[in-house]
Parts: sequence; structure tokens; C-alpha cells
Amino acid sequence: MTLMQQGAQEIIEKRKQYILPCITHYYEDPPEFVRGEMQYLYDNQGKKYLDCFAGVVTVNSGHCHPEIASAIIRQVQTLQHTTTLYLTRPMVDLAEKLAEITPGSLQRSFICNSGTEATEGACLLAKIHTGAHEFIALRHSFHGRSIIAMTLTGQSSWRIGGPYVFGVNFVSSAYCYRCPFGQSYPGCDLECAKDVENIIRTSTSTRVAAMIAEPIQGNGGVITPPPPYFKKVQEILKRYGALLISDEVQTGFGRTGGKWFGIEQWGVEPDILTMAKGFGNGWPIGGFIAKPEIADSIKGGQHFSTYGGNPVSSVAALANIRVIEKSNLAQNAATVGAYFKDKLLELQQKYSLIGDVRGMGLMLGMELVKDRKTKEPAAKEMARVMEICKDDGVLIGKGGLDGNVIRIKPPLCITKGDVDSAAAVMDKAFAQVQK
Ligand SMILES: Cc1ncc(COP(=O)(O)O)c(C=O)c1O
Repeated sequence: MTLMQQGAQEIIEKRKQYILPCITHYYEDPPEFVRGEMQYLYDNQGKKYLDCFAGVVTVNSGHCHPEIASAIIRQVQTLQHTTTLYLTRPMVDLAEKLAEITPGSLQRSFICNSGTEATEGACLLAKIHTGAHEFIALRHSFHGRSIIAMTLTGQSSWRIGGPYVFGVNFVSSAYCYRCPFGQSYPGCDLECAKDVENIIRTSTSTRVAAMIAEPIQGNGGVITPPPPYFKKVQEILKRYGALLISDEVQTGFGRTGGKWFGIEQWGVEPDILTMAKGFGNGWPIGGFIAKPEIADSIKGGQHFSTYGGNPVSSVAALANIRVIEKSNLAQNAATVGAYFKDKLLELQQKYSLIGDVRGMGLMLGMELVKDRKTKEPAAKEMARVMEICKDDGVLIGKGGLDGNVIRIKPPLCITKGDVDSAAAVMDKAFAQVQK
């Protein structure tokens, strides 16, 4: 056993003894990571890895970014925690910035600690504002791990320990590669969007509080809707007085390229927008922002979070936003993302295992199939590609209902040179797996 494996083995043993077994890890032969620097991670032997998964789509500005780290250290040594029952400045400065960068008239924020808590809070606000209790969610979605968040999640592997909350109905996802209506865009008349109205009319009282949706479904396998999808959906929701909650936990903060938030790619202004992950560049923080007329429905004492809006998380998120802005990371995501996607499309020409390449900016996916005609998911092959890439110093993520979608979502500071290296490593891995 190498020193590297020995370190990893000790951690695995301690996990077995002291951590709930629900906490699993990637790879048969996992490295122990000890250091991060921008788009790179280093293991206990100093081996460098290009991180194309960014701690599950979280480290947008780069690992241990020096400006964000300094802001955190300064704040942690000055004032860490008081709760929002006392007045401190960082949370309001952060909220002011969020009002500036989020689309349309979104203005008032609630800051919490995670994406799940953001989903909970956004749903609570939607219920209080509309007086309605029913929700619509998309199949293949992921919204977190509380009871309501799991209820809104459209993947069996994440719907654990039911029964769930009443009043949630699912609509078909805009999953063009496996269109649930057997159609193909653009000749399809957006049956998937029309499904929203069908479900409202057939499966609800028509009094729906909100539909929650990811602008690009992340965990579900980078499912990217056709451009007019969300406009059509919002038009339907408006007719029924239902709100649109855009879950930007993965698509936020420049990830999809050129814009701050994913929903902006579709030219739609949501009523409520949730965020986490890339919000704090790895520092735990979540939140949601709403239009003032909606936000003002919730009264004093109706919601609270002990750590929500604490000074350290708030300065971390604000420093992160400033880095994204100053370093033009959203633009870099657009440029380098387009370059990366071209490389993936080239690989698709070479390997029939790659059934579909999709996504935008630095939120890219490749769906692996055993056969392009039957589209049978190639999950085992996916696991092998991941393992080989890791051995060659490139970390990629996994997603999709069948665990057969490669997720490429690196820190937004990645360069074209990094992409060339990643593509060469993936090429080699596919050549090995698709013999
Ligand atoms: C789209 C989306 N929403 C919500 C969540 C839940 O976030 P968290 O893990 O911070 O609770 C996640 C990720 O896990 C996510 O990808």
C-alpha cells in the first residue's frame, strides 16, 4: 500500500467507525486531499489534480482564493456571531449587492446556511404570499434534503424516508435527449412547457403557490431546456397566480457564462431566487431573494435562522461576489466553457459511448450510453472513466437518474490550457473504456 493509500485508508476506517454510513465517497481508490489552490487540488503526496467538479459546483472563484480567505480571517478575528437580533453591517451590505446583481426587481433577501434551507424558506414565503399550499416541481430535479426539499426532488435516489408533504405535483422535465413526449426541438411545440398547465388543471385545485425549477438541472444530469421553455412556463404560471422560484444553487454566480444567474439565460425574471454553493465559494451560506411585494408578505418572527446572515459568512459571500466581478469570471465561464464544450463535442465524434453533450458556460454534461440507438445508460463505464481521469489528475463529477452523466463544473477561473489537459485525459480514458 502506498503512503497515499494508507492516508486514505485511515480516513475510510474512521468514517466507518464514527460517521453515519450515508456519507459515501467517490472512487474505488480515493486520494486524500490536503490543499487547494484556485482550480487545483493536491493530495497527501503533493500530486496535483485539475478540479473539474469544484466541490460539487461550489468553488466558483477558486480554492482558497486569497482575497476571500483574507476577508474571512479578518472578520473571524473581529466579530463572528451575534444573530440578526442585533445589528451588524455585513449581512445588509451583502443583501444590497444581491439586489444589484440579481435579475429584475428581486430586492429583499433572507440569508441562511444552505441550499436546503433556502428551498424551505422560499417555499414558506410563496405559501404565505399566495395563501396557496400546492407546489409544482420538475422530474429529475434536486432541491435539497429536508422533507419539503426531498418532496420537491424528482429523483427516487434522493427521495428517502417518505411519505412526503402533500400537494406537490411533478411536471415533465425539458429533457430533449430523452424527450418524455417522443418529440424533438424545435418542431415539438414545447409539450413539456404545456405539461405545466395540464398538471395544474388535472392534478391541483388550480391554487398553486409556486413552481420551483433549476434553470439547468444539475444533479439530474445537466438537463438543459430549450431556450423558450421558461418564458412559456412563466406565462402559464402567471395565468394561475403561481410564483416561479428559480433554484440557482448550482446555476448561480456566473456558472452558466456571461450572466450572474442561470434564469437570465432564458430571459425570465423569477419571483423568488434561491442560492447556495457558489454563493460562498465553499464557505457555508445560502439564501433567497424575492420581489419586494412578495417579500413583504412575511412578517416579523415568521422566519429566522441562528447562523443566517452571520458576519463571517456574509463577508465571505461578498468578497466572493467581488472576485467574480473583478476577475470577469462569468465572462471567463462563457469563453472557456464554449471552448470546453467544443472539446467534448470532438470527443463525442470519436466515442459512441458519449450519447449527448449539453449545458452552457462551465455547467457541462456528457451522457454516456451503451448504444446510441437504445440509449441504455452506461453507468459502469461512467465509473471507470471517472476513476481513470482521477488517476491521471482530473476530477470530474457524476449525475443523472442512472449515474451515467459526466458533470463538468470546474472553478470559473479555469483556463483554455487546463481544458486542453482535461480533454486529453478524458480522451485517453474513453479510449481505454470503449475498447
Ligand atoms: C439545485 C440544488 N438545490 C438545492 C440543493 C441543496 O443544497 P445544500 O446541499 O446546500 O443543502 C442542491 C445541492 O445539494 C442543489 O444542487
